[in-house]
Amino acid sequence: RCQTSVLESHCPLDVQLKQLLYLSILLTFLQTLCFRGKCIVTCLYGRVEVMGFTIDEGQKSYPLFSPASHCPLTLRALGHTDYVRDDRTEASNILEDYLSAASRKKLVKKVTPTSSIILLEPLETPLTHFLSSFTHLSELFSPPVVRDIDGCAVILVCGVKNVGKSTFIRILINTLLNHTSNVDYLEGDLGQTEFTPPGCLSLSTVKEPLLGPPFTHQVTPDHMIYYGQSSCETDLDGYLESLKSLWRRRPQSREIPVIINTMGWVKGLGFQLLVDLIRFLPVTHVVQLSHGVSTQCSSLTPDFLRMAQGYQTHPPSQTALDELTERHCPPKTYTHLNVQSEFRGVARQGTQRELSLLGYLSQLQSDDPGPIRPLHTLTPYQVPSTAVALGVIHCEVAPSHMFYAINASLVGLCCLAEKVTSKGGPVILSQATLCPCVGFGVLRGIDTARGLYFLLTPVDPSVLRNVNCLLLGTISLPSCILTEQPGFEGEMPYVTADYSFDLTGAGKIRVFKGLMRPSLMGVK
Ligand SMILES: *[C@@H]1O[C@H](CO)[C@@H](O)[C@H](O)[C@H]1NC(C)=O
Ligand SMILES: *[C@@H]1O[C@H](CO)[C@@H](O)[C@H](O)[C@H]1NC(C)=O
Repeated sequence: RCQTSVLESHCPLDVQLKQLLYLSILLTFLQTLCFRGKCIVTCLYGRVEVMGFTIDEGQKSYPLFSPASHCPLTLRALGHTDYVRDDRTEASNILEDYLSAASRKKLVKKVTPTSSIILLEPLETPLTHFLSSFTHLSELFSPPVVRDIDGCAVILVCGVKNVGKSTFIRILINTLLNHTSNVDYLEGDLGQTEFTPPGCLSLSTVKEPLLGPPFTHQVTPDHMIYYGQSSCETDLDGYLESLKSLWRRRPQSREIPVIINTMGWVKGLGFQLLVDLIRFLPVTHVVQLSHGVSTQCSSLTPDFLRMAQGYQTHPPSQTALDELTERHCPPKTYTHLNVQSEFRGVARQGTQRELSLLGYLSQLQSDDPGPIRPLHTLTPYQVPSTAVALGVIHCEVAPSHMFYAINASLVGLCCLAEKVTSKGGPVILSQATLCPCVGFGVLRGIDTARGLYFLLTPVDPSVLRNVNCLLLGTISLPSCILTEQPGFEGEMPYVTADYSFDLTGAGKIRVFKGLMRPSLMGVK
């Protein structure tokens, strides 16, 4: 009735309504109340400040205007200067004219020497009356349309690398988990994955708060696709199609919020991918993070999107026919939120990725405390090479070199739709396609004579039964797995310094194999 709506307050407000006409609010010292709308404010008790102006107890009432066209007003409680008084009795006397005995008693109980109590009353002036007679201004003082967050909010979060996107998302998920038991999470950032090793797109149901960095909560998502690279330039269509297919696997009737994480690539084609994702997915909110004064990219507002060029999607062209058809399909709307981040990242992405992988592989350790079990002491699964195809994603490897490439590598354990048939030997895919993935493994050896791959993986055997393809990408095992695990005698397998990086075409797949000498680090 007071035509105001509280946008933000630093702690729960004590609000008493009388006949739904007055609104009296108790504010504790320095508590703020940010609101949208219009009202008459009276300070009944204590002292408040609004836009630099102080309103004291007993001072006259003032009209406050906080329209949608401007930055909302904030009231701040300052408490009163005169501390020597019996707060409760005085407050009770003051409130006598405004509140019933019962609500007065309730409110007064909470009064302290530093409290303030304000009264908000409806405000209508010739100005507001006149303005609201125009259709386009009729909502000027209306409370903002609050979307139903506990329904199906679909929140896409984007922003350049190192802007604090992943921290922001964790806080967002945790905040949502305070109101709903589950949050869905669609992973679209290949480099900074939250629940999986890098290079993996996935859909997860989050039930527990995320109280640490990603490597501390590596869990198996509901659905995964191994993309095999920590960036998506090589196959933009594959990237988009994978995300679309993950989205389709989400139960559509589900009434829980969804968070969509995106690549930190916000320029050129990366920006076009964002445009596509907003068009493809039923996004209700776009949170765009940026830092500093320079704009990293245009604001992805609904207005901007109407004319924006995507990678797979295009703005409607301006032919008369299109205009006609467009009328049948209303433009997409969503809430766009710009977040200016003060955080300049820690930027240790390489470390992040290595930790995620080590976090994943730690699932191979047993639950009992005790000495750690180096990977080479674990018994691997024996996988017949006739039953499981091998493939390399995003690049070609001659079939005769396949074993060199995949030996001692991290592989995605994938499920091809078609049956794998062997003519007696290993099955090598000439062109690997992106397909569902159930987890990861280390292919730690190949017995060519018996036709067996030796595979270490934490994936449950019941799930492994569905795997018919091992995909190799450019996500490599952390080199410490090969060089620093204890209990080794003699020459270290898989590791060599005898390798020329100057050879044209050398090292496309197994770049790190030679990284024994720091002097060779960073050579492509
Ligand atoms: C979380 O929920 C509790 C009660 O369910 C509430 O007291 C608290 O203010 C909420 N916190 C946030 C950050 O929403
Ligand atoms: C795999 O690597 C190991 C260790 O370097 C090597 O002994 C073995 O011959 C390799 N296997 C194949 C099939 O290349």
